Amino acid sequence: MTTVSAAAARDSRDRVIVFDTTMRDGEQSPGASMSLDEKLELAKILEDMRVDVIEAGFPIASNGDFEAVRAIAEIVTESTICGLARAAPADIERCAEAIRPAKRGRIHTFISTSPVHMKWKLQMEPEKVLDMVTRSVSHARNLCDDVEWSAEDATRTERDFLRRCVEAAIRAGATTINIPDTVGYTYPSEYADIFRDLIENVPGADKVIFSTHCHNDLGLAVANSLSGVQGGARQVEVAVNGIGERAGNAALEEVVMALRVRGDRLPFHTGVDATHITRASRYVSAITGFPVQFNKAIVGKNAFAHESGIHQDGMLKNAETYEIMRPDDVGQGSTNLVMGKHSGRHAFREKLKELGYDLGQNALNEAFQRFKDLADKKKHVFDDDLIALVDDALASS
Ligand code: KIV
Ligand code: ZN
Repeated sequence: MTTVSAAAARDSRDRVIVFDTTMRDGEQSPGASMSLDEKLELAKILEDMRVDVIEAGFPIASNGDFEAVRAIAEIVTESTICGLARAAPADIERCAEAIRPAKRGRIHTFISTSPVHMKWKLQMEPEKVLDMVTRSVSHARNLCDDVEWSAEDATRTERDFLRRCVEAAIRAGATTINIPDTVGYTYPSEYADIFRDLIENVPGADKVIFSTHCHNDLGLAVANSLSGVQGGARQVEVAVNGIGERAGNAALEEVVMALRVRGDRLPFHTGVDATHITRASRYVSAITGFPVQFNKAIVGKNAFAHESGIHQDGMLKNAETYEIMRPDDVGQGSTNLVMGKHSGRHAFREKLKELGYDLGQNALNEAFQRFKDLADKKKHVFDDDLIALVDDALASS
């Protein structure tokens, strides 16, 4: 097994590896569990999208999770297949077994490093945790060339201890170092600073890829991920539609499109084919039963819809007036000029042309007035409503 994605990113400093955790952290959202067939289909969509790493599950968690990771490792050839393991030999061995069929496989092992987690969750002294970092990463490295190590709750970890743990993981052979904001606590500037500090001060930091993993408890997961990239991270851990523990993970579609649209500010790119984004979003929503909010960035039903007359007029003259990307960039079909009470005459005339009507000025004025009266009473004015009111206006003129 090789570590192609890590090597590629090392060669090109502006390439950001996209690590999708929809099937691992995403599936940890209450109610989001997915069947084997659904996971296989999603893995194919993610592979088509050219996601670099697919975290397919937590093999020791259940036989079902093990089978899913293994089955995905058997069919996916273009993305690295990763499984999660705690810092325990049984977890690491089970994970290695699950990813064995993969053309490129990765073991992702983690342990908590923050005072609150070490004291209450692990009930371990920091020196014991440090020792487990070395043991777990060495064990994983004996089974797989591509090993990611995560400092769970890194953003609430004392900086000096975090540096020591990262150094231990690098010495033991980790190829990717993940700095999770496990409880969505960090701030963009603070998160960037953590990466800069580790990259500048930890021996061997130049040999590994640093990764972001941001939760959305304060609604900052995407901003923090981008800030992590500014601080030197070259892998982002994301989930489709931002699903994940509690308030979720950084949304894949938002991080990818922010990097793409604002390449002028953040000169980094991913290998993702964004035209598959809407397909992935709809599929994840369908299998989890989690609806996508209408105003959700990139994939929401209203992300490319315009109702106000001023905006519609601008859009009809030049789409750049109110859109910073095109709907087909993300596989969303076309811009939707929604007919409602805020719509103007320009959009109304265009809509009627689309429906096959070319009205003279008087008929158009009459129909427009009737449309405004209807729109004041009705939330949604459908094409059939327009046809009926235009036919009526024509009959009475
Ligand atoms: O949020 C987190 O810390 C995690 C780790 C297991 C990477 O999901
Ligand atoms: Zn997480």
